[in-house]
Amino acid sequence: MKKIGVLTSGGDSPGMNAAIRAVVRKAIFHDVEVYGIYQGYTGLMTGQIKKLELGSVGDIIHRGGTFLYSARSEEFKTLEGQKKGIEQLNKHGIEGLVVIGGDGSYRGAEKLTEHGFPCVGVPGTIDNDIPGTDFTIGFDTAINTVIDAIDKIRDTATSHERTYIIEVMGRHAGDIALWSGLAGGAETILIPEATVDMEDVIGRLKRGHDRGKRHSIIVVAEGVGSGVEIGKQIKEATNLETRVSVLGHIQRGGSPTVSDRVLASRLGAYSVELLLDGKKGRAVGIKENKLVDFSISEALSQRHTLDLSMYKLSEELSI
Ligand code: F6P
Repeated sequence: MKKIGVLTSGGDSPGMNAAIRAVVRKAIFHDVEVYGIYQGYTGLMTGQIKKLELGSVGDIIHRGGTFLYSARSEEFKTLEGQKKGIEQLNKHGIEGLVVIGGDGSYRGAEKLTEHGFPCVGVPGTIDNDIPGTDFTIGFDTAINTVIDAIDKIRDTATSHERTYIIEVMGRHAGDIALWSGLAGGAETILIPEATVDMEDVIGRLKRGHDRGKRHSIIVVAEGVGSGVEIGKQIKEATNLETRVSVLGHIQRGGSPTVSDRVLASRLGAYSVELLLDGKKGRAVGIKENKLVDFSISEALSQRHTLDLSMYKLSEELSI
């Protein structure tokens, strides 16, 4: 393999730039040319493809977002879209592709591989919801952003003796809520992976209030429902002064943490090794701090799980 391509797709995540840098530098180290495909699968279909040099990825390891841009493409879900993409890859003489993104991006890579084009997936999403890897690139930065917000909200919650509902991202996964809720000392964490019992939540709040607790923090994963709605229910049932903060896309930005930069560097470089070893349809990941790879189709057929013992612990520590 003498020419490979790299693209980022789906929701961006901090550390994607560090992963692209690792792909480019590792490939050039092995005398392989690298082509950047701009705007994800959209740019693949329309041929927004440029050769990347060592210098193209200088000064980006610390930057959030992705300098290759990202997009979600409906057209690429069609056979016609996929054929257009393969035509462009062939036209540029590209023989293998690294796809950095979440499960939607993996589906595109799976399709290309089925059509005979070798792809390797690198897990880039703040949601931490890709089966087969303990962590995805961007998750650590996102939870650190959330923690910063929780700590700040806690200050004002204390001053005003209020109950705060903080809604965080994660799509269908509760990882962001669970990790940041546990680290932020939240009284209650609501995640889609555990049963949400509003009577229990309200009972705990009332008991806490009766015991003299003057403020409370509730972290809600967006996959559970709207933080605003939950806030209304709590206000009606308890009459406690309640405020809601929906953190939103702030969670997707910012300079990646050390963990995300290191993870991105390791996974990006490993994806190139796999392509050069003639592997295809694989996704890379990290398990117990060891690099692993597994079939993209296998990853897509599994359900993401999280460590429910952490959830139990959060309940025990917030009595
Ligand atoms: O998958 C990353 C993510 O940020 C999710 O947590 C969130 O549900 C979604 O993307 C938001 O998507 P968009 O950027 O299209 O609003």
